This record gives sequence, C-alpha cells and structure tokens, in this order.
Amino acid sequence: MKIFLDTANLKQIKEAVSWGIVDGVTTNPTLVSKENMKFEDLIKKICKVVPGPVSVESVSTKAKDIIQEARGLAKLADNIAVKIPIGLEGLKATKVLASEGIQINTTLIFSSNQALLAAKAGTAFVSPFIGRLDDISQEGMVVIDEIVAIFNNYGFETEIIVASVRHPLHVVEAALTGADIATIPFSVLEKMIKHPLTDIGIEKFLKDWSKVKR
Ligand code: G3P
Repeated sequence: MKIFLDTANLKQIKEAVSWGIVDGVTTNPTLVSKENMKFEDLIKKICKVVPGPVSVESVSTKAKDIIQEARGLAKLADNIAVKIPIGLEGLKATKVLASEGIQINTTLIFSSNQALLAAKAGTAFVSPFIGRLDDISQEGMVVIDEIVAIFNNYGFETEIIVASVRHPLHVVEAALTGADIATIPFSVLEKMIKHPLTDIGIEKFLKDWSKVKR
C-alpha cells in the first residue's frame, strides 16, 4: 500500500520524506489554511520535495470554472493531482480534464456509488473519507471494502485513497482491504512507528551491551 501524507505543512512533509516512506501528499483548503504562506508558493515548494503526486483542491463549483481552475493548478508542477469534490459539475469537469491528461482526485466520497461514477468519468484517484463516516456511526471501512470489490470486478485503474484517517488501526484496516493508498496525518504516522516493547527491548539490549567485554 502506498503512503501519502495528509498535510500541507512543509516541515512535516520534509521530515516524513526523509524517512523514505512517503509516496505522495494530499492537501485540502482546511489544511492549506493552517499554513502561513502564499498558496502557490507553498504548493510549488511541496511539489519539489515530494516524490509522487501532490493533491491540490479546486474550489470552483461550476464545471467550466472547475476546468479552468484545474488547468491552472496542473501548471504549478508536473506532479499535481487536482482534487475535485464529487458531484454533477465535478463529474463533467473530470471527463474533460482526464482526457487532457490531468490527474484528478475525486474527493469527499462517502459511498461506493459515488466512487463508481467518478471512476467511469476517468478520475485517477477516489478519496473516500472514512473517519467522517465513523463520526456519524457508519462504518467507513465498509465503503472501502465495497469500492475495492467493485474496482476489481470491472478492472478500473482508478486508485483508492483511504482518507480521513484518524488512528493507526485505520491504516491496518485499510491495508487489509487491499486499497491502493492511505493518506495519513503526520501524528498518526509517528504513532505507527512506536511500540512499547521495542523501546523496552532497545533499553535492555543497550544495558546488556554495556556489560560485554570489548
Ligand atoms: O484527506 C482528507 C482529510 O484531510 C480529511 O480528514 O480528519 O478532516 O476528516 P478529516
């Protein structure tokens, strides 16, 4: 499973890239609003350090405006994927943009039917938000299971990005479904590395090593 970082924070991105485990980055207007930088400068800087797709969200609501905005965003760097929220206008725009070779990440997906339609329109990625479904007492991972099965049944090349990941167990569950990608906040990534038995084991080995005659 590929790991994307779900943040627009350059420091976090540079740090996680140095660990050698980052395959891409996803941003959204909320994440970008937390950074004190001019939007285009920030995105260009992120794109330079990330060895894979960087998703940047379009905020237009009409197909013709989404198309225009997405063309502009795609020019910022070679590794841009344009996020477009699922909807009728978004689908129309996706069809046009995908035929121009622009990578689209269809976002705010909450059902497998939405994912199916986005895939048919030619999107490169679908982003189902599992944490937000869990928040309303609906099992988010069920939607991932359905999308994985549907895409496998019909050979869609669209990649599934498990999004709105809130804790390490979400990542394990995502990997078990066979989803292509999980986009993970930096804090969750840090938690995935740690295990108390690893810390105890290192401490003991270092203590015992100090007793070895050298
Ligand atoms: O990738 C989508 C993600 O940023 C949304 O996460 O935690 O705001 O639901 P959250």
